[in-house]
Amino acid sequence: MSTVDPSGVVAIVPAAGSGLRLGAGVPKAFVELGGVPMVLRAVDGLLGSGVVGRVVVVVPAFEVTAAASLFPGRPVAVVPGGADRTASVAAGLRALGSDVDVVLVHDAARPLTPPDVVRRVVTAVRSGLPAVIPVLPVTDTVKQVDADGVVTGTVDRSALRAVQTPQGFRASDLVRAYDAVVDALTDDAGLIEALGDSVHTVAGDPVAFKVTTAWDLRIAELLLAGASVPISAEER
Ligand code: CTP
Ligand code: MG
Repeated sequence: MSTVDPSGVVAIVPAAGSGLRLGAGVPKAFVELGGVPMVLRAVDGLLGSGVVGRVVVVVPAFEVTAAASLFPGRPVAVVPGGADRTASVAAGLRALGSDVDVVLVHDAARPLTPPDVVRRVVTAVRSGLPAVIPVLPVTDTVKQVDADGVVTGTVDRSALRAVQTPQGFRASDLVRAYDAVVDALTDDAGLIEALGDSVHTVAGDPVAFKVTTAWDLRIAELLLAGASVPISAEER
C-alpha cells in the first residue's frame, strides 16, 4: 500500500456521456463489464489504490437518483453532468468541497485502470508537480493526410504520447484552468497547457485503455476473464 495520504485527494469521475460509439442503448458508464457497471469498477479502482480519499461521480441528470445507490458504503457523491465532458468535469469541480489539495479526473470508461497508475499520478502531484498525466508511447507509424486521404507526411512518433487518465492536478490550478475555459476539450491537461503551464507525464498502462467501441468492451471482457493469469509488465 502506498505511503501517500489519501485525505485531500478527490477524484472526479466524468460518467455523463451517452456512449454513442459503443451503442449499448444506455449511458456507457452504466454498461456492465463482468456483471459490474463500468463506473463502479472505475470508482473502486480509485478508492482501492489507497491514495484517493473521496470521489465525485458526474452522471446524466436522469441517472442521478439511480446512480446514488450504486456506491454503498463508499465516500462518493453523485452530481449531474453537462452537454460535453468539459461541462461535466466543471460540474464535478463545483461539488469538490473544502480541504482538497489534489484533484484527479478519471474517465468512467477506463474501468480496468491498474491502481499503480493512480498511485504514480498522485505521488507525482504530491511531489510538487502542478499537472501530471499518464501516457504511453505510440507504437503505430502515424501519417498526416489531406482531405482526400492522401498522405502528406510521416509524423516522428518518438515525440508522441497517447494520453490516459487519471490526470492529476494541484486543486487550485485545475479550478483556475476551468475558470478560464473557453472551448470544450477532450482532456483536462489541455486547459493547463492553454494557460501556458507545464504538464508532466508518468507511465500509463495498456490496461487503462478507454472503452469506446464494442470492440473495446469485448477486449475488456476477455482481459477480465483471463485475470487469473496476470499480464506481466514485460508482456504489455
Ligand atoms: N463524459 C461526461 N459528460 C459528457 C460526455 C462525456 O461525463 N457530456 C464522460 C464519459 O461518460 C466518459 C468520458 O467522459 O467516461 C470519456 O468520454 P467518451 O469516451 O467520449 O464517452 P461518451 O461521450 O459517453 O461516448 P461517445 O463519445 O461515444 O458518445
Ligand atoms: Mg464522447
